[in-house]
Amino acid sequence: MMRFLTEQDPQLKGETLRALHDITDKIFKGDCLEVVKTFPNSFVDLIVTSPPYAYNRKATYGGIPVQRYVEWFLPISEQLKRVLKSDGSFVLNIKERVVNGERGTYVYELVMAMRKQGWLWTEEYMWHKKNTYPGKWPNRFRDLWEHCHQFTKSRKFRMYQDAVKVPIGRWAEKRLAKLSETDMIRDESRTKSGFGKNVSNWVGRDLVYPGNVLHLATESSNKNHSATFPIDLPAWFIKLFTKKGDVVLDPFLGSGTTAVAATRLGRHFIGVELNDQYYRVALERIAKEQHRLARSLSVSVDQLLEPFLPKVTLRVPGGFDKALA
Ligand SMILES: C[S@@+](CC[C@H](N)C(=O)[O-])C[C@H]1O[C@@H](n2cnc3c(N)ncnc32)[C@H](O)[C@@H]1O
Repeated sequence: MMRFLTEQDPQLKGETLRALHDITDKIFKGDCLEVVKTFPNSFVDLIVTSPPYAYNRKATYGGIPVQRYVEWFLPISEQLKRVLKSDGSFVLNIKERVVNGERGTYVYELVMAMRKQGWLWTEEYMWHKKNTYPGKWPNRFRDLWEHCHQFTKSRKFRMYQDAVKVPIGRWAEKRLAKLSETDMIRDESRTKSGFGKNVSNWVGRDLVYPGNVLHLATESSNKNHSATFPIDLPAWFIKLFTKKGDVVLDPFLGSGTTAVAATRLGRHFIGVELNDQYYRVALERIAKEQHRLARSLSVSVDQLLEPFLPKVTLRVPGGFDKALA
């Protein structure tokens, strides 16, 4: 059972206390390292984010040099680990670029360092950008994918697989029309990997579980941000790893995509964004989404956001107002 600090806690004497609903469904302007430090332990269900990539897009929002990336990120991931529930997930969308003709290795170095920090590198999902234009490079082909690394704190994490089922596809009509004897029993893998399949299990099913590659088009228009991810990307992970009413954190919120996805799916969000211009874009997008949703449900925005979170209080070292500024 998750436990929050309460006013009665002796260690809290003299410290600022706030209700949890003071930080949910809000975005904070500031450095996520400093802001997340003010949050309590173990209350976030899912973190999904796309940080600035190493030295990418320096002109737009500052980049972290490749050599310093891991040392810059580790204190942040330490705070993220602290605020994440023990059965929650952290999904990190990131990509290394090519420098001097070679792919960078900082993403892999970061994965190794985060494992040392105590994270489990549970799965690697891939975002396949299905709408990019063809091109010609002398020594490689167009880059069409990005990593979505899933980190967890334990092997027992929550996952709602049925929420992301996909249509079985046309192939099934022909394949399942006539089953062989082998199709009727579990057919063990010839490689002795322990995997096997029983084809007859698919008969009569319209929906099946997807693979770990997300085929999504990129979206960048009209968001006033040069590096947004498509709303379907955070939405897919939100459906897979949370249920309604859970809390989703994006510490590098950018134009607010994760918060919009969370609102649309009935989850609470918390966002942090350093850049004032993007912070304002995010505020506007979220407000629009909240109003749209409230209208469609015939309720007020206040009723929409009425937190169904437990009435708990939390500890904010150094004062909550600083974090809200
Ligand atoms: C790749 S973008 C995220 C885009 C976002 N996923 C979207 O769809 O709009 C990374 C964002 O992190 C912000 N950022 C960079 N350093 C930060 C920090 N230390 N704390 C909070 N935000 C930061 C940048 O301003 C940028 O908007």
